[in-house]
Amino acid sequence: MDTADEKNFELKPFELLLDQKTISRRIAELGREITGAYQNKNPVLLGVLKGCVVFLADLMRHIKLPLEIEFVSAASYRKGIKPEEEVSFESSGHIPLKDRHVLVVEGVVDSGRTVSTILKHVNKMEPASIEIVTLIDKPASHRTKLNIAYKGFAVGNEFVIGFGLDNTQKYRNLPFIGKVIDND
Ligand code: IMP
Ligand code: MG
Repeated sequence: MDTADEKNFELKPFELLLDQKTISRRIAELGREITGAYQNKNPVLLGVLKGCVVFLADLMRHIKLPLEIEFVSAASYRKGIKPEEEVSFESSGHIPLKDRHVLVVEGVVDSGRTVSTILKHVNKMEPASIEIVTLIDKPASHRTKLNIAYKGFAVGNEFVIGFGLDNTQKYRNLPFIGKVIDND
């Protein structure tokens, strides 16, 4: 889909925020940075399902190193009457992470609770190092202190879709990032 198609997308509860070329250029840069920083480290890319899938697939092809991939899923839910959401963690866990250089790969970091929960669990596994990679960061929404080593783009408080990111499970297949303008 080229830029003209992006403008003509039929159902349009969103507007274009980041086009395909901009995204792929940035992912290539992140891949080069990670390639430089992880020489001889055989990193494990730990993708956070499901939002990571498109980003991870592109990013891993720009990392010119031996690497492995693994996935975790994290779901947030409200616990009792507490206003704060809790985050649960689940891993397919085939690759032991002890003494490994782990890159947690996220589609979007919003409050930061999901990625913090993942860091907490992975840290218990005693990795050699752990860093966060996210395609989209919403720094103004963080509710926890985070050090994001690699980020594609920082955006404001808008809700974004496409490139793996969903709105009620839809739109993950859009090849660009849109900003929701009608959330019905
Ligand atoms: P957290 O607040 O950083 O823990 O993010 C929780 C989850 O909310 C993310 O993993 C996404 O699934 C979802 N999320 C937050 N902001 C957006 C967005 O703008 N678009 C799509 N999903 C989002
Ligand atoms: Mg979601």
